[in-house]
Amino acid sequence: MAEYREVQSFPIAPRLTQNPKPHVNDSTYKSDHAASLKNPDEFWGKLAREMLSWDVPFRTVRAGGFENGDVAWFPEGQLNASYNCVDRWAYKNPDKVAIIYEADEPGNHEEVTYGQLLVQVSQLANALKKMGVKKGDSVIIYLPMCPQAIVSLLACARIGAVHSVVFAGFSSDSLRDRTVDCEARVVITTDEGKRGGRTIATKSIVDAALKECPKVEHVIVVKRTGNESVQLQKGRDQWWGDVCSRERAFCPPVPVNSEDPLFILYTSGSTGKPKGVVHSTAGYLLGTALTVKHVFDVHENDKFACMADVGWITGHSYICYGPLMNGVTTLVFESTPVYPTASRYWDVVDKHKITQFYTAPTSIRLLRRLGEEHVNKADLSSLRVIGSVGEPINPEAWEWYNKHVGREQCAIVDTYWQTETGSIIITPLPGATKTKPGSATNPFWGIDPVLLDPQTGKEVTGNEVEGVLAIRNPWPSMARTVFNDHQRYLETYLHPYRGYYFTGDGAARDKDGYIWIKGRVDDVLNVSGHRLSTAEIESALISHPGVAEAAVVAMPDETTGQAICAYVTMKGDYDGATDDSLTKELVLVIRKNIGPFATPKRIIVAPDLPKTRSGKIMRRILRKIASNEGDQLGDVSSLADPSIVDKIKELTAKK
Ligand code: WTA
Repeated sequence: MAEYREVQSFPIAPRLTQNPKPHVNDSTYKSDHAASLKNPDEFWGKLAREMLSWDVPFRTVRAGGFENGDVAWFPEGQLNASYNCVDRWAYKNPDKVAIIYEADEPGNHEEVTYGQLLVQVSQLANALKKMGVKKGDSVIIYLPMCPQAIVSLLACARIGAVHSVVFAGFSSDSLRDRTVDCEARVVITTDEGKRGGRTIATKSIVDAALKECPKVEHVIVVKRTGNESVQLQKGRDQWWGDVCSRERAFCPPVPVNSEDPLFILYTSGSTGKPKGVVHSTAGYLLGTALTVKHVFDVHENDKFACMADVGWITGHSYICYGPLMNGVTTLVFESTPVYPTASRYWDVVDKHKITQFYTAPTSIRLLRRLGEEHVNKADLSSLRVIGSVGEPINPEAWEWYNKHVGREQCAIVDTYWQTETGSIIITPLPGATKTKPGSATNPFWGIDPVLLDPQTGKEVTGNEVEGVLAIRNPWPSMARTVFNDHQRYLETYLHPYRGYYFTGDGAARDKDGYIWIKGRVDDVLNVSGHRLSTAEIESALISHPGVAEAAVVAMPDETTGQAICAYVTMKGDYDGATDDSLTKELVLVIRKNIGPFATPKRIIVAPDLPKTRSGKIMRRILRKIASNEGDQLGDVSSLADPSIVDKIKELTAKK
């Protein structure tokens, strides 16, 4: 624990001591957090009435629990997510800007007001109804960053349909699998995408995927580039503009039960098959609304910029639902941090006078490496809170962010959460928490984090301890099930340690009770904040006809946090390719099966893998070798063939 002891602690940031006054301060944090654990019914009942607009009020606040996996919040209530995110603000102030769309090309931006958003959401919702989409049906959204992505999410929600966004970096095979799994009949996409000056052939990926999705009847295509070579398939595909312009500009929102699903989002787990994590409506909206308000200290005229992609949970919660639940302006950013230059983020902040800025450590590390001059010339005085998410942030990156972006004036929030938690669960609060670089600090309302001994499952109490991170009681925005596989939900999250939600992360608690997230303890990798399962990559590699075995492990990387290192052995009779062309083939296999973001940094063809005598691959040994800790392997003499360890070390050292 020595490494946690002596870090500098940062007081409340200067801009948070001015107007507007922060919603939470140190003493209200402590008393409200205590109340949220002691009297959850009272605490959450009051907030749910204040922050959500209900068609039918709830009577019960909480039902079910971890023991039976039947968690439910506000069970008699009925409401509509799009009404909560759009209508109530549109009626009050139709001209307020809901979305700023900053296109890939600098200088090209558009604004959508709440009044316009209501019309756009209504028209698409009416069009979906005409296509036969009903309450409970799934709609696949395969869209790069554009305002229509937000409109699509909300249009589904308006009619009670369940959206399932597939990140537009996934390959056609991944898109196919997800489309088949959730039984979608409608897909929404673009002709092409633009990112960092490059064109992405979105529609042709959809076409390839849909060859094996017989249930899909309709494809709605947003015209982004207008490239005339993009073809519409007669009877199946229609342009977004044509579909929507026919429709009436109001669609009555359909009240749904609090516990009706709002969306499915696929995420990687320990096994090869991605899980369709299901979020319910009321609890999820409450969690995202409240965290935007309190973790980012959002006030009425703020402009919130989350630089994630809408294809991941961060985009769902902090581009779409959270900001819009607060009636503020949200940014939809189509480009990259380095296009056309490494000052793009800061140009955007200055141009739109962004007040909250939220990104991943990987971008911070990249921009830090590219030099201070890009950020130092920006003004950045509009910023109050700057956040980090997705992976542990190293103290050097934290301090750079604080100094060069926050100018030592802004609150830095290192926010810990997961696809499954729906919203942020461990985080500093800007007006309340003294921060320590590298620590996600304290639990949010309703979160009772515990560290468990991984062997015994017993709680590790006191400070200066480590364990696996689990949560004691249900909270409103937690996932309710895995689509069509509730058993898997129970086995992954609730059964490993009975009575707790298991995060899959290891963590430490320091002398002040602050929490430090240490990373996954399961077979999940985190590359540039993208979550990947080793099993998924291994099964892609094994689909190559020459590969006999594959073992994928993480290796540390200065920019992406972790990188993928793949060890493969070839079948005895395989005489196809030299190592070089084989590596290229294997990269292609992964790009086709998963997507380019899963490309390994190293692929090492080995004569054999370290195995126990019973044939189990010792990934632990490979992990150490890939992390340059090959001298700390301990005793390997019990392996089936100990000599393989040195051979693998040699191959790994060779670049
Ligand atoms: C990791 C992203 C350290 C963690 C919102 C978690 C973090 C996984 C942090 C979830 C953080 C997320 N510090 N690690 N502040 N935030 N993680 O589902 O390992 O894409 O389990 O959700 O990211 O990734 P997911």
